[in-house]
Amino acid sequence: MIRKILMVVCILTAYLHPGCQRQMNQAGNPDSFVEANIDGLLAKMTLEEKVGQMSQVNKNGEDGPADIENEVRSGNIGSFLNIADVDLRNKLQKIAVEESRLGIPLIFGYDVIHGHRTIFPVPLGEAAGWDLDLVEKTASVAAREARAVGIDWTFSPMIDIARDPRWGRIVEGAGEDAYLGSLISSAKVRGYQGCDLSAPDTMAACLKHFAVYGASQAGREYHTTEVPLRTIRDVYLPLFKAGVEEGAATLMSGFNDLNGVPVSGNKFLLTDILRNEWGFEGFVVSDWRSVKQLIPHGIAEDETQAAILGATAGVDMEMVSRTYINNLPRLVREGRISQDVLDTAVRRILRVKFRLGLFENPYVDPDVQKSVILAPENRKLARKAVCESMVLLKNENNLLPLNASLQSIALIGPLADNQKDLLGTWSYSGRSEDVVTVLKGLQDALGDTCKINYAKGCEIDGILTEGFSEAIEAANKSDLVIMAVGEGIMHNGEAHSRTNLNLPGNQLQLLKEVEKTDKPIVLILFSGRPLTINWELENIPSILLAWHPGVEGGNGIADVLSGRYNPAGKLTVTFPRNVGQIPIYYNMKNTGRPFKGDDGDTSRYIDSPNTPLLPFGYGLSYTTFAYHNLLIENQKVKIPGAVKITVDITNTGDAAGHEVAQLYIRDIAGSVTRPVKELKGFKRIYLKSGETKTVTFNLQTSELKFYDINMEYNVEPGDFKVWVGPNSVEGLEGTFELL
Ligand code: BGC
Repeated sequence: MIRKILMVVCILTAYLHPGCQRQMNQAGNPDSFVEANIDGLLAKMTLEEKVGQMSQVNKNGEDGPADIENEVRSGNIGSFLNIADVDLRNKLQKIAVEESRLGIPLIFGYDVIHGHRTIFPVPLGEAAGWDLDLVEKTASVAAREARAVGIDWTFSPMIDIARDPRWGRIVEGAGEDAYLGSLISSAKVRGYQGCDLSAPDTMAACLKHFAVYGASQAGREYHTTEVPLRTIRDVYLPLFKAGVEEGAATLMSGFNDLNGVPVSGNKFLLTDILRNEWGFEGFVVSDWRSVKQLIPHGIAEDETQAAILGATAGVDMEMVSRTYINNLPRLVREGRISQDVLDTAVRRILRVKFRLGLFENPYVDPDVQKSVILAPENRKLARKAVCESMVLLKNENNLLPLNASLQSIALIGPLADNQKDLLGTWSYSGRSEDVVTVLKGLQDALGDTCKINYAKGCEIDGILTEGFSEAIEAANKSDLVIMAVGEGIMHNGEAHSRTNLNLPGNQLQLLKEVEKTDKPIVLILFSGRPLTINWELENIPSILLAWHPGVEGGNGIADVLSGRYNPAGKLTVTFPRNVGQIPIYYNMKNTGRPFKGDDGDTSRYIDSPNTPLLPFGYGLSYTTFAYHNLLIENQKVKIPGAVKITVDITNTGDAAGHEVAQLYIRDIAGSVTRPVKELKGFKRIYLKSGETKTVTFNLQTSELKFYDINMEYNVEPGDFKVWVGPNSVEGLEGTFELL
């Protein structure tokens, strides 16, 4: 009874509290009612029940107990993953709430990565829209759909910086930049969690994979990471800090060995930085068996030691493997691990369960999903997201948008009439039948006036050439060819690293054969990573990068091809010319012997240019934009202070369109070497043909901080260069000085 009253008061306070309840760690606002409830529960819990809360089991009990229901009843399971079934959820929850001794609800986690049933573009594609509002909205739709099927908690956002496109998981993040990545991290947390985690349409976010997983050596999955602490702090951690500050409820420790200490047993990361520096109050879940994997990593001899290392480092909940439940109660009894470690972890887990409202509303109404899943407004948002994600890489002679007078188009390629691959990796609850294909999208958009001659041509990954002749025939009888080629769903994601970044299979061969017909070709490129598309860029007049666009792929692509939407996407990751250039990213260091276009002993290759195939920030439009009048209002600025930078941008073409204006700086000389360029701001603006707008950036000196020679986070006086432009290599240049 007392618990019930406390709960009601707690919820009322949440509603009465002004402002957003999103933050887990609002300084000065400890949720004393929640904490009091947790105290009460902790006082009653046995050691087994405590460790039960720290244990997450896969839906089929993999690695774990045969009799799941009985284990829930005994309080030995605190969480499940991979259940997206309201009835099963409610059944297990009922056992936890009504049949376990203390009635503590379960929390259900799931990988809702780029949408639940309404699958949006893969995250790397979505990032190319540079539209934080849209990122927040797609996350919010994902939360609404997921919560309706009983998912309380998503293992997203994945915010690993990746500078190596060989790594298959580059697709899951926002690209190579810490500034943009941090803003996207916050936007996703806002979208998933809203202002009130207990609302029926929000869910807990999970920042993953803490940390530096994206630096896997040679891009090989699960490989070692060795990164200097300064780079860890300057490049990899800001995205996590941003997510924590936004109030993310949970965080996932990764698989990788970081500088000799695997991150799921890494106290420096999980406690010293995350808890002591950042004040994170949510809980940390391990990645899939990553605590047990401390054994093959070679820092634990057995499961007992793995459990001690994981729990004392700060992994509060163990995913799938059972080293905690099998060992921690005994270890506390033997005095080998303090009970405080358990209490602290359980407190963090219960805190999130309370915030999610699971004690008050443990069940999900099975009828809600009917009106929520794939609702028309969700699909509408998905179509917008597809449009915004697309990057126009080349458009010779304005071949795009398609001329309305075209009588016939050949649509060729293994991704043209394809549903499954358009979903992209990590689309667990996505269904192929929900996907609008390119063929369908084009037929709907142009079918009345233009004949579409479709031919598959080849498989995504095959060597057979039998379909080539049909493709060539289709091209020959058409005014123009659209080729839909690229990677498939199985080329990206976890454990899908590649050493060759060309078009898979014999698609390039097909493209070359079709090109011989001399028909104008538009190439739609599908991928989850940068590809080495040298021949394509040189020989094909128009190339549109569509990533893996999700359920509304065909419609969004047709919107762009037909000109109903003018593309404005910009790459958030560098495209290399060849695999040998990797890692290649825009914010590299200058070196002591920078290449100056000569053939002397400078930092260069003898068989390849240094420059990328396509730079960070790059993307074209159906119109053109001119940048002029760069003005730096105060060229000498005291610290702390702000630099006001303005630029005029004019739409000099015929079509209206969006432009993403980007602000870069270079700190010329620091106590440690500084990158040649760093993104420090951007504005996504809309300009009608002929229109000019002034864009203003107020760059705070605090935004110029980095980890200095003493590993202190500081801004240093000195000269800076500044650029405002359409990408990381073009733009107007100016200077300012910090005093
Ligand atoms: C992945 C995580 C994912 C987890 C649960 C792991 O293999 O690394 O990103 O959230 O599985 O499915």
